[in-house]
Amino acid sequence: MSQLHVINHPMIQHKLTIMRMKETGSKDFRELLKEIALLMGYEVLRDLPLTDIEIETPICKTMAKTISGRKLAIVPILRAGLGMVEGLQSLVPVAKVGHIGLYRNEETHKPVVYYCKLPKDIQKRTVIITDPMLATGGSACDALAMLKERGCTDVRLMCLVGAPEGIAKVQAEHPDVDIFLAAVDDHLNENAYIVPGLGDAGDRIFGTK
Ligand code: PRP
Ligand code: URA
Repeated sequence: MSQLHVINHPMIQHKLTIMRMKETGSKDFRELLKEIALLMGYEVLRDLPLTDIEIETPICKTMAKTISGRKLAIVPILRAGLGMVEGLQSLVPVAKVGHIGLYRNEETHKPVVYYCKLPKDIQKRTVIITDPMLATGGSACDALAMLKERGCTDVRLMCLVGAPEGIAKVQAEHPDVDIFLAAVDDHLNENAYIVPGLGDAGDRIFGTK
């Protein structure tokens, strides 16, 4: 069964509260999202394997830890997932970045795929999908299915705010995938927006409304 990790560190909660406020403008919204992504990244990557290597300090030779195992890929779901990429890249500058383009049909709320470009060796990598909003879970489930079709076996889902409906859908369809969130909100409204949520993440990042 996939694990749900709610990262309720005070720094993250404080920044998220400012993001939720309707008067917070695009510039601050983007900066806060980037900062939270970096902070959440520590937890998302907590189980990366380490091996000992021999190094030489200015004082003596010693054994020291280094990250080993699979290389990383960050896969934002366009558009809003892009806002979390830079924060993760500051932790792992060598991670490759793939893109999955999905938008929700306004009437059915079902995701529509319009773009997919992934690193060639994606199946060999630990993949972190980024998307601030996990609402119905349709977009996340489709992105996960697209990655699994390409042979990915180690995929984590990193969002900011999740609704119970979306969490349940991902857990049912992708029981092997760990979900990382900064908050679990109350419910979805009639337009499948998260309540209380933070509104339309893509529009707030890019100033399109
Ligand atoms: C938003 C959000 C997620 C999706 C979540 O994207 O960024 O991708 O909705 O909803 P779901 O869990 O019900 O699928 P949107 O489709 O609005 O596209 P955008 O990021 O381009 O604005
Ligand atoms: N997409 C968003 O950007 N916000 C929501 O609340 C739901 C889907």
